[in-house]
Amino acid sequence: MGAGAMANSEEKPGAETDVEAIHRPLLRELGEPEDGREPPPWWLWVIVAIALFWGGYYLGRYGGLFAPVPHLAFAPRTTQPDIELTAQTVEVSGPDLYQQYCASCHQADGTGVAGVFPPIVGAEWVIGDPGVLIRIVLHGMHGPVEVAGNRYEGLMPAWQNQLSDAQVAAILTHIRQLGENDAPPVESSEVAAVREQEADRQEPWTADELRALPEGDQ
Ligand code: HEC
Repeated sequence: MGAGAMANSEEKPGAETDVEAIHRPLLRELGEPEDGREPPPWWLWVIVAIALFWGGYYLGRYGGLFAPVPHLAFAPRTTQPDIELTAQTVEVSGPDLYQQYCASCHQADGTGVAGVFPPIVGAEWVIGDPGVLIRIVLHGMHGPVEVAGNRYEGLMPAWQNQLSDAQVAAILTHIRQLGENDAPPVESSEVAAVREQEADRQEPWTADELRALPEGDQ
């Protein structure tokens, strides 16, 4: 019995070596690649990477901070919410207020979105007479207008019920200094005067109406 067990255990290592030797060529050879399962070419990865990068950039640039407010521009006028002045809207910091109320359409850097939201930087009305600018922000504007060589026909919401005189003045002072813009600040007393003068105005302005404003009101 003991001898038999010995013989067996001696045979096994020999047998294993044999099997390995027989299979070695098989293990050495790689399988034939199947048709259609080759790895994709390098340029496909490049295109995918560029597409992902571009997608992220596009969302960041034109996503409007995922805020609902850009959609106001396309909503019928009647559905525009009439938000009353609240405690939350009393803070006065031009850059913060611009970010909160204007940047979703006109973009944080004020370059707008060509053909949809006009630019703030390099726009003649922004650096021009404050009277027109105050009116645009208080009552909004709609209809065709050409800004910096592009045509726009959208709706700029009215802010007279959301923003105080001091807040409008802070925003306007900020945008008149934004980027390459370099125009003097706007005082809240100027905003108050225009608000008073146009107290009955509910409709948004058209570009023609703004241009037709008498000198001195502009
Ligand atoms: C819902 C998107 C939207 C928001 C928010 C918005 N605007 Fe506008 N704005 C527009 C559109 C659209 C126009 C062009 C209207 C037209 O076609 O007549 C415009 C026009 C203007 C103009 C005149 C054109 C130009 O670029 O010179 C100024 C100035 C302006 N907006 C300033 C502001 C300020 C300041 C705020 C923040 C208080 C603001 N906008 C918030 C959409 C918006």
